[in-house]
Amino acid sequence: MGETLKGLKRTIMCGEVREDSVGKNVTVMGWVQRKRNLGGLVFVDLRDRDGILQVVFGEAINKEAFEKADLVKSEYCLAVTGEVVKREAANKNMATGMVELKGESIKILSESETPPIYIKDNLDASENVRLKHRYLDLRRSDMQNIFKIRHKAAKVMRDFLDEKGFLEVETPILTKSTPEGARDYLVPSRNYNGKFYALPQSPQLFKQLLMVSGFDKYFQIAKCFRDEDLRANRQPEFTQVDMELSFVEEDDVISLNEELIQRIFKDILDVEVKIPFERMPYKVAMDKYGSDKPDLRFGMEIEDLSEAVKNSEFKVFKDALLMGGSVRAIKVSGGAEMGRKQIDKLGEFVKTFKAKGLAWISIKEEEIKSPIAKFLSEEEMNAVIAKVNGNKGDLILIVADKNSIVLKALGELRLHMAKELDILKDNKQFRFVWITEFPLLSFNEEENRFQAEHHPFTMPMDEDIEFLESDPGRVRAKAYDIVLNGEELGGGSIRIHDTSLQEKMFGVIGFTMEDAWERFGFLLEAFKYGPPPHGGLAYGFDRLIMFLTGTENIKDVIAFPKNQNAACVMSEAPNVVDEKQIEELGIIIKKENL
Ligand code: AMO
Ligand code: AMP
Repeated sequence: MGETLKGLKRTIMCGEVREDSVGKNVTVMGWVQRKRNLGGLVFVDLRDRDGILQVVFGEAINKEAFEKADLVKSEYCLAVTGEVVKREAANKNMATGMVELKGESIKILSESETPPIYIKDNLDASENVRLKHRYLDLRRSDMQNIFKIRHKAAKVMRDFLDEKGFLEVETPILTKSTPEGARDYLVPSRNYNGKFYALPQSPQLFKQLLMVSGFDKYFQIAKCFRDEDLRANRQPEFTQVDMELSFVEEDDVISLNEELIQRIFKDILDVEVKIPFERMPYKVAMDKYGSDKPDLRFGMEIEDLSEAVKNSEFKVFKDALLMGGSVRAIKVSGGAEMGRKQIDKLGEFVKTFKAKGLAWISIKEEEIKSPIAKFLSEEEMNAVIAKVNGNKGDLILIVADKNSIVLKALGELRLHMAKELDILKDNKQFRFVWITEFPLLSFNEEENRFQAEHHPFTMPMDEDIEFLESDPGRVRAKAYDIVLNGEELGGGSIRIHDTSLQEKMFGVIGFTMEDAWERFGFLLEAFKYGPPPHGGLAYGFDRLIMFLTGTENIKDVIAFPKNQNAACVMSEAPNVVDEKQIEELGIIIKKENL
């Protein structure tokens, strides 16, 4: 049985003991990282949140403590009291390596079974085992460091927003569904059988209502829930740093957030990021990088070859241009060394993005190799090479199709090539860019109607409002995303604060006024009472922490994450509940689903 503290107090953290403690009597508490018995001496490395301290027990120091120390095993939880002494052989690899603790008394606070994972950094245990025993996984110092950074980042953001006059307000978790594009998590109601709450995908509507309330500047570190396909940077339950401001336009939100980002990177990483960040209209991002979240740490931009091959007899090119599509390419410097097999693999790669094929031109030292050489005149070939500024040693990769496919395929190929060629190795840059002038609406071919790209409360750009009904596809939004190294870190917009414009917007996306009032009546009603012009932004806080800690897996920055199937393998959620609970909710579960 574990001993109790009985008044014993910790006086210092294991990881804090340094030479200035030599000669002092201290009490530390922590877990056994490692024990070694070297004949007359027992060495215990004791670990707490701040680090590891070597404790030495010996018959000559204290016989009783020595004998007890010999019983301990890895991950036993101990309290040790004794004098700090200078170590004879200093260990330069340990922060506490100049000193050790003479174990004069020891309490075994609790014992431990052999843990299923070894508590050490750079662990290679399977993810499933790590998640199942997450509390042990979180004992590792590399995991604890992540959560120290997460804590500090939240504090920096909170302090910054407080300085700027923001109020932190909590908004409900049991809400009515807000349309953010993903599927909702639903909570059945006991009081209203057959009705459901939705967990918020974001606090969007409530923060807008707080602006109507005159709160002026709001923020919240908010849990958000989205039932969507999970990826390395997506969790079903994640955190936003969400904000909204009154009496502002795009530039106000953008410059405030540049200052915020600058502060975070300085305070957490001691990195100076230059502001203002580059801004890039959506269309430019799509044309050059085939993505609305371009990674600007390297070039390899997409070039349009349509003009250069406009008279080509090559059927693939001709057909693409005839149907209003395009022929575009990226140039891979040094890529001419790639063999046929490697290039064929790239062809397979672009096919996963619906491209029908990949044409290529390899500019070798002595000749030009290309499966399409026979289809192009010399003049056309030269025009293509000139367009991409091709030189000896380069490989030109070409896709012809409708624009959406060409841009997607080449955008993905560009990222793929950067990985293949390890272009970003040792690249320590943080390349921020604001993507602006997003399309307000996109056409949903399945439903044969326009839908809001961001959400239906986003304000159209002033110069495009007149086309809202006549040509919705060309209307750009007062929306902006902040992108870092090819990841969307956050996004926001200026909102519509005018009821008649809002109603028009609903009309364009095919909502009748009844639909709109049924779903967002409370917002439309509120907008009758003098809503201020307002706008805001939300960061994916977990994604920000991924950058600050240099991990590529969002699970690393969430204490108790879900796995790829949205399950918690530790607590085994989701799970069955008592029949009585189901009954109270007025729910019947289909037999075949059990
Ligand atoms: P948006 O939907 O763009 O905007 O979300 C804001 C940011 O949240 C992060 N994010 C996620 N992070 C982890 N897991 C997920 N499943 C996930 N989904 C989104 C992204 C994203 O940029 N209400 C608006 C904001 C506004 O207009 O003010 C909103 O939610 O980093
Ligand atoms: P084919 O005449 O069909 O054998 O095609 C000749 C070359 O064009 C091959 O290298 C194909 O991979 C390539 N190709 C086929 N379709 C496309 C396309 N849509 N875009 C670019 N290249 C293509």
